[in-house]
Amino acid sequence: MALRVGVVGCRGIGTTHATAHKNDKLAELVAVCDLVKSRADELAAKFQVKAYYSLGDMLANEDLDIVDVCTGGPENGGWHGEPTFQALEAGKHVLCEKPISNDVEEAREMVKLAAKKDLYLGVNLNHYFTQPADEAMQLIKDGKIGEIIYCHLRTGFPGSEWAYARTGGPNMEGYPYFHVKAFLAHPFSIMRYFCGNVCQLQSFFSKPSYRIATADPMVSVNSIHMKFENGAVGYMFSSRGDTTNYYGGWWSVEVGGTKGTFAIENCVEKLIYQPAQGNPDVVSPVGLGLAPEPVITDYGVKDFGSTFPRRIHCFLEDVTNNVPKHKLRASGRDALATLEYTFAAIQSYENGGIMVRPQPLPFIKPDPNNLTLPKAPAAPAANQPSTDVSVK
Ligand SMILES: NC(=O)c1ccc[n+]([C@@H]2O[C@H](COP(=O)([O-])OP(=O)(O)OC[C@H]3O[C@@H](n4cnc5c(N)ncnc54)[C@H](O)[C@@H]3O)[C@@H](O)[C@H]2O)c1
Repeated sequence: MALRVGVVGCRGIGTTHATAHKNDKLAELVAVCDLVKSRADELAAKFQVKAYYSLGDMLANEDLDIVDVCTGGPENGGWHGEPTFQALEAGKHVLCEKPISNDVEEAREMVKLAAKKDLYLGVNLNHYFTQPADEAMQLIKDGKIGEIIYCHLRTGFPGSEWAYARTGGPNMEGYPYFHVKAFLAHPFSIMRYFCGNVCQLQSFFSKPSYRIATADPMVSVNSIHMKFENGAVGYMFSSRGDTTNYYGGWWSVEVGGTKGTFAIENCVEKLIYQPAQGNPDVVSPVGLGLAPEPVITDYGVKDFGSTFPRRIHCFLEDVTNNVPKHKLRASGRDALATLEYTFAAIQSYENGGIMVRPQPLPFIKPDPNNLTLPKAPAAPAANQPSTDVSVK
């Protein structure tokens, strides 16, 4: 049976989510809600569903399975917490837009409440819900990358000193960390998806002179160096409209290992697999600087918008299949990880680039109903010497 969904927040992203639910067989869009009446009415009319002007009313009047939180707020995450707490308290699963919050303590509470209520809390970390990312992960699983050595991610809203315009809006204006908090959830989530948890991190932030001249507070250039728990090292460069990337389109990531390397170019567009020198399955040219031929797959897609229905479908699929809560793809805990890294990066920047260890994530409790107890060792036969040195 389709999951009954109510969307909260009816502007650009709420409309994108509502459209994805409407077109997905696993969902039934039943209502939308916005504090601004005209926005709720317009979206409700578009999809012939009921409009509400408060989440409380929507929860009281509709039998929902999922509340999809598409509000924004300060730093694009300040208004995620309140509707998420409200929906979880009402016993509803939640899909929330990124960043999970603009406040790391609030985000920890959101994850804690979902665990306490035993409900799904997913976050729209949509950038790795793509065909190139799926196939890149398959390369890792197939052993074609080997032990991961490095991960480089470069992302930037294209821009320049000519194109710069002081952007305002209540969510952004006056917040030095708007870009860091609103956006780095994506690049951190991609790096963590491929390389695991970050255990150490160091950052340098800056902004170009034209932002300084207009007293624009935003630290729009972010350079972050990190180490992963698995021993790999990583580097992220992010800029909000101060320069224009040449390589890799809007964002690109490269992950190099002891057996091969892959790169994703332009988020959804291309996957490049570079077998390592000496790989016995391919021809390795002999000579300094020469490497085997790369395998380049061009998916013919450039529209990053295609990530939304794909990610939303995965959330609907996980809830439909009742997967164990810790197996939920792009969970609240995963999003909390990205916010812990974001806050660690801010701490590093504010302290002159010191190394910071991000706060560890909450422990995943095993389900006591599904524990497989280890088999007790067979008792040694009478008069036989035990082979267990500890009992000698
Ligand atoms: N995943 C992505 O790729 C991606 C891309 C862009 C934006 N986003 C995120 O999507 C979110 C929404 O973006 P947007 O541009 O549509 O935001 P927006 O600020 O333009 O619209 C949010 C809407 O939510 C409504 N709202 C706020 N609090 C409410 C509440 N408690 N109850 C009901 N309605 C409420 C507001 O009235 C507004 O109409 C942001 O958090 C942003 O970070 C994600």
